[in-house]
Amino acid sequence: MGIFLNTDYLKGFVSESEIKALVPAIEGAHKDLHEKTGAGNDFLGWVTLPSQIPDALVAELMALGKEVQSHSEAIISIGIGGSYLGIRSTLEFLGGDQKIPVYYAGHNMSAIDMGRIIKIVENKRVTVVVISKSGVTTEPALAFRIVDAAMKRKYSGEELKKRVICVTDEKKGALRQIAQSQEYRSYVIPDDVGGRFSVQTTVGLVPLALAGVDIKAFVDGFRTGEKEYANTNVLNNPCYQYAAIRNVLYKKGKTIEMMASFYPNVQYVTEWWKQLYGESEGKGGQGIFPASTILSTDLHSMGQLMQDGMRNIFETFLMIDTIDQSMVIPSQPEDTDKFNCVAGKELDWVNKQAYKATADAHFEGGVPNLCITLDKADAFHIGQLYYFFEKAVGISGYVLGVNPFDQPGVEAYKKKMFALLGKK
Ligand code: PA5
Repeated sequence: MGIFLNTDYLKGFVSESEIKALVPAIEGAHKDLHEKTGAGNDFLGWVTLPSQIPDALVAELMALGKEVQSHSEAIISIGIGGSYLGIRSTLEFLGGDQKIPVYYAGHNMSAIDMGRIIKIVENKRVTVVVISKSGVTTEPALAFRIVDAAMKRKYSGEELKKRVICVTDEKKGALRQIAQSQEYRSYVIPDDVGGRFSVQTTVGLVPLALAGVDIKAFVDGFRTGEKEYANTNVLNNPCYQYAAIRNVLYKKGKTIEMMASFYPNVQYVTEWWKQLYGESEGKGGQGIFPASTILSTDLHSMGQLMQDGMRNIFETFLMIDTIDQSMVIPSQPEDTDKFNCVAGKELDWVNKQAYKATADAHFEGGVPNLCITLDKADAFHIGQLYYFFEKAVGISGYVLGVNPFDQPGVEAYKKKMFALLGKK
């Protein structure tokens, strides 16, 4: 069980001495994270949260999940950014095996999307979970207005109260006030964890439990990450090595990190990662641009640029070692397409050869690449991986010299939009 980092394809791009030169900066960043002595230290609750999540909360949410599964055919999850991506990323990573389908709202303002959601409310027995830490974000607030009105057309009294669950700040924000005045069930998001680090809080745990995910294994993955990635010896800590490698490459002009996977169920993990890294590091005129591709699909579209375009890219592959699905390639008597060479082999074996070929070709084409491999695509490993990336961006951001825990830039468009909407 675990997560492994392969750095073979960094040779000639990143040397051990360059990593060692960053050790003092990384040790300083480690101290800032653990002793809360750095910028943004009000938002470091996530560092030790996994070991502090009460087992009783996990049990309570699993019981809530069973209850909801007994009376609902669909879940509508309303939220955006950190209150959306981790939920979708986890459910899609786990292969959509959840006990009830989850539909997402409040992450855009498309009336087309909202029309589809309202049809689900009208035609199925639903439970709504609305998630907003601030409780005042435009997209989920408007989506909840519309969905709540539809719920009230369909349900009333105790039945309505049973089917709307709010996840928000303990005291602040409009959503807390709504939960109180409507007597909806509610769960508290800790104050000291920012949106993009919040998947291990009630933000992730409540909707994942409703969908039937094994949140105990998920939390265990986080706890394992908390223990494993606290090792200050950088050379023995893959999480810190990842942070160091990114910084060395960035200083050499590799300003784009392409997260690439040969598994489409990882696509939303890369979306979650893009928010985490883009919002944490992209400030003060600095930051690696986080991008993503799904392969081999995108090798037939982005492959040319990756192999042969401007050499400002490095690649991080995200692979899964053992998959549950067996799919053997059949033999064909005529061998018209000349693929009997792989007849009898697992399709996943071919997929992994495609990874090896791509890593090698891109390396030869001047794209340094590293690979993070998860043993399995299960709730435990995705929990551990989230912690790996969270800790690495905390270290990486401090080494870069930015505050990884604020996001002043996301306010600019909101001010202009509120002016256009006439919002006070
Ligand atoms: O990282 C962030 O803080 C943001 O992207 C938030 O996750 C996003 O805006 C949602 O915020 P809230 O949960 O307050 O509605």
